[in-house]
Amino acid sequence: MAARFRAPKGTRDLLPPETALWAAVEAIARETFERYGFREIRTPLLEETELFARGVGEGTDIVGKEMYSFVDKGGRNVTLRPENTASVCRAYVEHGMQQLPQPVKLFYIGPQFRYERPQKGRYRQFHQIGAELLGGFGQWADAEVLLLLVAFLRELQFTGLRVMLNTVGDESSRAAFRSALVAYLEPRKDHLGEASRRRLETNPLRILDSKDPEEQEVLSGAPHLRDHLSRASRNHFAGVCRLLESSGIEFELSPRLVRGLDYYTNTVFEIVSEGLGSQNAICGGGAYERLIEELGGKPTYAVGFAIGEDRLIEVLPESFRRGIATRCRVIVAPIGTASSHGAKSLYAEGVLDGALLVCDYFRRNGISAEWAAGKPERVFKIAEGTGARFAVFVGEEELAAGRVSLRDLETREQEQMTREEALNFLQRFLP
Ligand code: HAM
Repeated sequence: MAARFRAPKGTRDLLPPETALWAAVEAIARETFERYGFREIRTPLLEETELFARGVGEGTDIVGKEMYSFVDKGGRNVTLRPENTASVCRAYVEHGMQQLPQPVKLFYIGPQFRYERPQKGRYRQFHQIGAELLGGFGQWADAEVLLLLVAFLRELQFTGLRVMLNTVGDESSRAAFRSALVAYLEPRKDHLGEASRRRLETNPLRILDSKDPEEQEVLSGAPHLRDHLSRASRNHFAGVCRLLESSGIEFELSPRLVRGLDYYTNTVFEIVSEGLGSQNAICGGGAYERLIEELGGKPTYAVGFAIGEDRLIEVLPESFRRGIATRCRVIVAPIGTASSHGAKSLYAEGVLDGALLVCDYFRRNGISAEWAAGKPERVFKIAEGTGARFAVFVGEEELAAGRVSLRDLETREQEQMTREEALNFLQRFLP
């Protein structure tokens, strides 16, 4: 039967067993971030539209065409958050966190919304794991968030990820570069596509991001930002690179890396992974020195990143996946109505005394009949289909004798034993 309703385009249901991976990744994120002194913030999914227009920037793709914006019943313009940095800064100012000892280190995990064309690794509702360090001190703050980021990815057993690093300079560097870039591109306008011609007016730096071969050709001769960096920006970037090197963090310089959001100053970075096709960035971030002021706070140095959790899960190392998948699941299956009570109590006992890591109570019409008809094979098949590692069968005879049958669903070995023996045996499979 065809389903009448489907999840809206660009959104999806996350289902078991995949959700176990999500939970494990998030638990490790919390553990690691807290170890580095970051604490969780949860901001609303909905914000005033103006926050993003100001924060992320009018000329960006996000604000220009990707926001889920609407007028609510009270006539307010609101938007489903397309990212979380602007909200975190809004909360920082709103709750007077500038009065707290600095830096304030916050992390978040949750859905974001962008009306983009869905494709592999790109969704309209996607999920980010992010961290923001607010009120920190320049290059040290930049290095600190990168250290945290790399530590987290190591916990997930990643090895081959590439950290791409660049600087977009401070305001004065950028103004100088912007003029040089526009002066170079203006006479070559005919070789640019429509979107880039528009960006020439609104946000010329973003043209550098183009993947179009003809535009790339034009861009290959374009001026470089690094030749327009102010002295302060040059020193800042050199300092960050030195700190990362001395911390043993490997990175690649990526002079053409510009980010799709307007708030960045100086350090920007992305982490890219193989195996994701064109949407290969699993993380983006950088420093933003002006945003908090822009939102009404005191000038505050800040830096952060957001990992796209959907993409991260997609490329999780096999070793990590296996570790999660082999967690022992046990199902308890009553055979015959009289034993149903016994099975339930065993289930309750297993869960309550923590002996079983995961324990399911398993009931299915017809099981007892199959069993009674001398077709236990069918019952075993059903049990195997649940994905559990062990099944504990509780038949009426066994129940009377205080015994159960424990079946290893992988090796298909089965043994009768007392309930206590079964619980003891399963203990060995705790992580
Ligand atoms: P962003 O680069 O726009 O930065 O997003 C960060 C990550 O979110 C991307 O690298 C990607 O993995 C994931 N992502 C973005 N859009 C989608 C999508 N449509 N589908 C799936 N994944 C997606 C930010 O959002 C900044 N707030 C990061 C930041 C924090 N900068 C400073 N602090």
